[in-house]
Amino acid sequence: MSTSPKPTPPLVLRHLAIVMDGNGRWAQKRHLPRFFGHKAGVDTLVKLIDACRARGIEHLTVYAFSSENWRRPEDEVSGLMGLVIVAVTKYLTKLARDGVRIVIIGDRETVSDRLKRAWNEAEELTRNNVGLTLSVAFNYGGRWDIVRACQRAVAAGLRPEQITEESLSRYLATVHAPDPDLLIRTGGEMRISNFLLWQLAYTEMVFSDCLWPDFNEAALDAAIASFAGRERRFGDVAPVSAR
Ligand code: FPP
Repeated sequence: MSTSPKPTPPLVLRHLAIVMDGNGRWAQKRHLPRFFGHKAGVDTLVKLIDACRARGIEHLTVYAFSSENWRRPEDEVSGLMGLVIVAVTKYLTKLARDGVRIVIIGDRETVSDRLKRAWNEAEELTRNNVGLTLSVAFNYGGRWDIVRACQRAVAAGLRPEQITEESLSRYLATVHAPDPDLLIRTGGEMRISNFLLWQLAYTEMVFSDCLWPDFNEAALDAAIASFAGRERRFGDVAPVSAR
């Protein structure tokens, strides 16, 4: 009987989450207003969506605007809101044709009617697509997500003993996706910034100094190679390929 250890199962990258940080610094380095960094960031995102599709990644979740980003100067906030509407207009047809399903996760109550319409149109047009699912976290906060899940569970009539990790996760904004396997944060900071707090419990993380507009396929492959070399144990002692 063989006594050699069981081979480690290959890691599967189904769900990639990204904190797209560094747009402002990218623009400042070029003596441009910060808005130009966000504009370049949208183009990078569109390229990365193609790269993720080519690599068979099923879910891509990006942090586009946090609940805390309202604290930024008014012109930057309104610039970002306008940019999103322009980006949806510019890229929606391409994304829809490429089979991308767009899902917005975040609080829609406090965004403008124009933005609500743009998000609704993007979701509506891509609802039946079966390619990559792009979840855009907009006006999103991890704490908001958890609090809202509790409120929805209570409103649905769940009794305290019925609130479990499994039942509560059905009320989170990410109900349509497995938990992320890998989180990439660009821009050199090493923190979560209230992104997907519940869902990142066992996610592997890669922090890159690259500013988001400079992030490219080679940087993505480097992050994936780092992920592929990890041992995921999910609190167990033996490696597990995915949960
Ligand atoms: C962080 O960089 C980036 C943001 C707050 C916004 C990211 C948004 C986009 C790339 C646009 C997304 C659009 C769509 C349609 C999904 P930062 O401004 O904090 O950069 P800094 O750390 O250098 O100041």
